[in-house]
Amino acid sequence: MPSAPGTAEFDDIAPVYDDSRGGTARAAGFADQLAPLLDSERWVLDIGVGTGIVAAELTERGHTVFGVDLSAGMLARARSRLGRRVAVADAGRLPVRTASVTQAVSTWLLHTGPDRRAVFGEVARILRPGGRYLVIPARGMRPVDDIGRIVNELEDRLDPAGSRQDGPQSLAPVAAEHGLVYEGTASERPTSFEVSPQQMARSLSEGGLFTGAWKVSGEDVEIVQQACERLRALPDPAVPRVREMSDFVMVFTRARRHHR
Ligand SMILES: C[S@@+](CC[C@H](N)C(=O)[O-])C[C@H]1O[C@@H](n2cnc3c(N)ncnc32)[C@H](O)[C@@H]1O
Repeated sequence: MPSAPGTAEFDDIAPVYDDSRGGTARAAGFADQLAPLLDSERWVLDIGVGTGIVAAELTERGHTVFGVDLSAGMLARARSRLGRRVAVADAGRLPVRTASVTQAVSTWLLHTGPDRRAVFGEVARILRPGGRYLVIPARGMRPVDDIGRIVNELEDRLDPAGSRQDGPQSLAPVAAEHGLVYEGTASERPTSFEVSPQQMARSLSEGGLFTGAWKVSGEDVEIVQQACERLRALPDPAVPRVREMSDFVMVFTRARRHHR
């Protein structure tokens, strides 16, 4: 089954996706953050379900999860975990009845470049009044250590409109346009990882940029290379920096009344 345009990168990385993104430990951590915010009596829609690794962990915690995704390669893996409860669909055009969903989740979806206005428009349409959309962002926090300053500047040059940023500042206004109220964050969980400037430069120059979902081309390749040179020129470039971050859930609620 061919994938829709824009998700070919995910077809390519599907075989290594889980292991290269923290494996079951990440998925279990996300499920632990989401589960207390979900009603186990109602089913959950996972939008951008990917390989189903997070959905499978939610299932283990007693939730019934349905999933949609645009990448056939990712979905093939989700199907092996969730069976027939997954379908190919665009998050911006959900094959779901209006006001039929109590709770939906997305983990690491909105930084990959889908049309976020379309996604929030669809979420607002399918949620029942009072229903909730729980989002775990990939870039909810941008560390401002010496690596972070260079990488953040690079991201801002490559994406001046911020269409790859998925923290509250970027998403709350878009949600509000569609009558989704941003309630704040929940289930915050501090994380830390180590990376050296050299490792970050290698990852960027090998195209590991931003989860591999954001392939650069043309003039942008030169911009990435400049950032890599700056990273390698930092003091002690082989010494890993401990990067303090946190994973959190953003909670959006469908207003009980919304006048467009
Ligand atoms: C970084 S992966 C995250 C997958 C999964 N949620 C997880 O946490 O493991 C992003 C997923 O979003 C999917 N995706 C990107 N744009 C989409 C769209 N417009 N509609 C549906 N899925 C989309 C990709 O195919 C990919 O599987």
